[in-house]
Order: sequence, then structure tokens, then C-alpha cells
Amino acid sequence: MYNKIEVTRYAKSSNRIKSKITIALIADLHCSDYGRNQFNLVKLIKKGSPDIILLAGDIFHHFGKRQKGHELIKEAVKIAPVFYIAGNHEKKNPDYFEILNEVKFLGGFVLDNEVVETVVNDNALILAGGDKSAIMKSRLREYFGNSGHFKLMLNHYPENYRDFTDDFDMMMSGHLHGGQIRIPYIMPNGIYAQKQGLFPKYTGNAYDITDKFTLVVSRGISVRRSGRFRVFNRPELVFMDILPG
Ligand SMILES: [Fe+2]
Repeated sequence: MYNKIEVTRYAKSSNRIKSKITIALIADLHCSDYGRNQFNLVKLIKKGSPDIILLAGDIFHHFGKRQKGHELIKEAVKIAPVFYIAGNHEKKNPDYFEILNEVKFLGGFVLDNEVVETVVNDNALILAGGDKSAIMKSRLREYFGNSGHFKLMLNHYPENYRDFTDDFDMMMSGHLHGGQIRIPYIMPNGIYAQKQGLFPKYTGNAYDITDKFTLVVSRGISVRRSGRFRVFNRPELVFMDILPG
């Protein structure tokens, strides 16, 4: 039960949205095993009825078999369009470029510091993905500078949000596995996170940073491959409903 997936659902309204969009956010799978064809995870994704599925990095580990990551993507594309960014572990993997090709081959869209426009439930959405802030900001401004559409950043590292508060409406990320050890009410963001140090602020929640900008951080869904342990911090599948407002 301790490693049972917890489903978290957030909602946010925006006047840039005409009809509701449901986003599923999955981060840091590290090729964890949720059954044959990732059945136990896939059934929860289906139950949440997402319009779009975002994979926020470290779906694969930096070594070892990649089958469980492949299985997730293969099943997820049957539910909704899947967008993927690489995390630090994939970048460390000697097969990094092969991983990107595998994601594409399985029907996922790879965002490698790219900014694209996509249509979800009759809403045009500007979607950026990667971790090179300067490249994405200049692409956004060049191609979509005057766009009034909702702008969403998919970025593995929560700390990077500071680069995007002016240009984007929302950022989604993972990486920190919820701060590893959480103490309910006392240390809700966990005890430690890389780059944020002890008692970090942004390890897993939806944070309204400004009136306009929300940071959503998944606590990640790995149970065994990260080499770390979790306390009061179950693996998490996140849904975000963006509502017309
Ligand atoms: Fe990571």
C-alpha cells in the first residue's frame, strides 16, 4: 500500500481557455514496473480522462532496460496525445538519442527545447518543452509573441520556473521526487531537494507563484529505480483541469 499510486487532481481557471482541458502529468517513472503493459498505471490515467498527457522527464533511467518506459508510452498514446521531454537521467544515458527515437517511434512527440502550437478541445495551446530557458524564450517571443493562447512550459526542473513567469501561464515539472521524506503538516515539501537544499519549497504541489502563473510539480512515480526511498510520499499521478475563467 505504501507504494500505491496516489492520484492528485488540481484545477485552475484561465480566461485564455474556452473549454476545459484535462492534462495528465507523469514524471520520474525511472522504468518502474506497474504490471504487464503498465496496467495499474494505465488504468488510472484512463480513469482521469486526460485530453493530453505530458511526460516530464526521467521516464527512463540512465542505464538498464527501457521496456517499462516503452510500455507506458505505447499505452498512453492510445488514450491521448503524448508529449515527452528528457530528464537528467535520460541525458546521462549513453543511448540518449536512441531513447528520443524510440519515443517518436512509439507515437510520442518529443520536445527538445521546442515551442509548438497544438489544439486541445478546440483550444489552441502553446506548449514548450525542454530545459534551455533562453532558447525557448526566444522561440516563444519570435513565433508566438503576440499570441493570446494559453502558454504551458514542460520543464524537468522546478527551480527553472523563475525564467518563465512573465511569458507563460503554467509550468509543469518533476525531478525532485517530493523531497523524499515528508512529514505531513510539518514538512509538506519534504526534507531535501537537489538545488533547493534542506526544507525545499517546490517539490510536489500546485503553487500559484503570481496571479497569472502556476507551477505544478509532480512528486514522481518511481518506486524502485531512482535509488532513493520515499516516506509519507507515495508515487503520484497528477491531473490538472484548466477551466474557462
Ligand atoms: Fe530528474
